[in-house]
Amino acid sequence: MQRILDNIIKDTRKWTIEGQVASYIPELAKGDRDAVGICVTTLDGEEFFAGDYKTKFTIQSISKVITLMVAICDNGKDYVFSKVGMEPTEQPFNSITNLEGHDRNIPLNPMINSGAIAIVSLINGNSPEEKFERILRFMKKITGNDTISVNEEVYKSEKATGDRNRALAYFMKSTGVIEGDVEEVLDVYFRVCSIEVTCRDIARIGAVLANAGVMPWNDERVISREVSRIIKTIMVTCGMYDGSGKYAVHVGIPSKSGVGGGILGAVTRRMGIGVFGPSLDDHGNSIAGLKVLEALSKEFDLSIF
Ligand code: DON
Repeated sequence: MQRILDNIIKDTRKWTIEGQVASYIPELAKGDRDAVGICVTTLDGEEFFAGDYKTKFTIQSISKVITLMVAICDNGKDYVFSKVGMEPTEQPFNSITNLEGHDRNIPLNPMINSGAIAIVSLINGNSPEEKFERILRFMKKITGNDTISVNEEVYKSEKATGDRNRALAYFMKSTGVIEGDVEEVLDVYFRVCSIEVTCRDIARIGAVLANAGVMPWNDERVISREVSRIIKTIMVTCGMYDGSGKYAVHVGIPSKSGVGGGILGAVTRRMGIGVFGPSLDDHGNSIAGLKVLEALSKEFDLSIF
């Protein structure tokens, strides 16, 4: 496995020049375009690393998997999916056009920005601080990493430039999808997106999903088998946004990307995968990350299809 990962990283690094580091959040533009790293966490407790796996990056949309877990734990799946749908979309991750004119005007799924903001609004807590702390605590638990924290510069940058997300959130307030103080909901969302992780942290989240909701390193259950199955299914259809179909054909692993360059993969009964490469394609997915996952999927026959 180690040799294969080293070779995959070596062979895929060339793809980074085909993409761009995200710049619509100005602080993310400082990312290293050439970086590529991977961690694989197998369910029998082995961990493998290659490339720039030590680099920290902000979790961004991969947090949508975590906030969905917490929201379902807090409210139950029926209530959560009465507020947010389960349908894929051909629109980009921050689109506003699909918030109106279909099934009760709810966001199409929890993996796009509108859906994730609505999901954050459902999380229990008496204040934005308490809501955020509960999510962070869950994140520390599911990664087994107590040192996880927010990148304050990215948080400030997101908050200062998040007008598209503000538009989505205020629109959803007008249609009754979001209740309460919109700015407070957004503040939690921006903070959660700005949490810093490494490939290992996201590989571990993938390993918990791969293991049907049980942390393989201590056998503790964090989410039910059913919730784990639901989330992996939505990752297949929506996790790579409007690139999810092509990704399913070429990789076939339930995955979630973030504009910080991370991709989380969960291979049921086998492994969690954390890939990092900040150079992104037009859909906002890591360009080398896609190639790494495609090569890994082929090498070890990981596609679910
Ligand atoms: O809200 C945003 O636009 C970012 N904080 C997260 C978007 C994102 O990661 C999309 N992913 N590929």
